[in-house]
Amino acid sequence: MTPINGADPHGDRNGDRQRDEKPDTLSPDALVDLAAARREAGVDEVLAKLDAELVGLAPVKTRIAEIAALLLVDRMRARFGLRAPQPNLHMCFTGNPGTGKTTVALRMAELLHRLGYLRKGHLVSVTRDDLVGEYIGHTAPKTKEVIKRAMGGVLFIDEAYYLYKAENERDYGSEAIEILLQVMENNRDDLVVIFAGYADRMNQFFSANPGMQSRVAHHITFPDYTVEELEQIAVLMTEQLGYTLSAGGREALRAYLRRRIEQPWFANARSVRNAVERARLRHARRLVANTDTLVGLQSLTTIEAEDLLASRVFDDDRVAESR
Ligand SMILES: Nc1ncnc2c1ncn2[C@@H]1O[C@H](COP(=O)(O)OP(=O)(O)OP(=O)(O)O)[C@@H](O)[C@H]1O
Ligand SMILES: [Mg+2]
Repeated sequence: MTPINGADPHGDRNGDRQRDEKPDTLSPDALVDLAAARREAGVDEVLAKLDAELVGLAPVKTRIAEIAALLLVDRMRARFGLRAPQPNLHMCFTGNPGTGKTTVALRMAELLHRLGYLRKGHLVSVTRDDLVGEYIGHTAPKTKEVIKRAMGGVLFIDEAYYLYKAENERDYGSEAIEILLQVMENNRDDLVVIFAGYADRMNQFFSANPGMQSRVAHHITFPDYTVEELEQIAVLMTEQLGYTLSAGGREALRAYLRRRIEQPWFANARSVRNAVERARLRHARRLVANTDTLVGLQSLTTIEAEDLLASRVFDDDRVAESR
């Protein structure tokens, strides 16, 4: 027997089927416990994890919490026999490289599974080449195969605008778009499609494909991180890898980020991850090169200023100094 709040965190069924299996409808004067339902579905756990592991992104987190609330309330309403069609949860994530789009899509899939919206909650991440064939007749089977793999989970289409080439009307991308449009309409209780890419190009894509625009209910913007947020992200990443930054290391990190953010190919948290990896390399090289070969936990885990200051990011300063 399902508890009164109807939460089924480990269920491998989607909302509709779950609703059909509900034993009996509650009387209109009954009360359901929303907090207990949240707990049992593990919603708080996912949201807390999201908050702890992802720095910043306040608007994104708010929207995810809203979606979670909607699905939870929907479930409670179903307990009273109120039947509404599954809400439309197709989404579009726009933001610059390294702002967390892929990471959040993964969490979203997990959350939608816990809330009984998705049967499996896995994520299938694709780009144009996975969907569109090079020859006539290749695109439909390719796209359908990907959709089949994604059923019960999230289909994440990165840089979705490459699907559509305005200058080439015989491009096979439009065939993939047609198939996606149908599936997004007809299978939305079993598949969530998330498009991702840069804001301006996504806007062009939607203007050229109004059918797509109308099927995407949630447009979520991922802002660039501030230097302070990038610093927190770096600290989080070093901790996750089992390192700490010395006081000098922390200062060097800040100086590094202030410079890096202004340079070409800056990719937000992705650049931070790369910087942390390189600092780790220099740290190792420093220890191994040291004449004192006896090392303890402290030196094995501490990233010092020099591990960051050796970066090319500081090259201009060094040139200026040597002049
Ligand atoms: N807010 C954050 N807090 C902590 N780590 C983050 C945050 N955002 C992103 N990251 C980390 O940065 C890396 C890049 O993130 P992710 O791949 O999700 O970005 P993206 O927006 O999908 O980038 P791209 O557009 O290049 O595909 C990942 O290792 C991720 O864990
Ligand atoms: Mg990505």
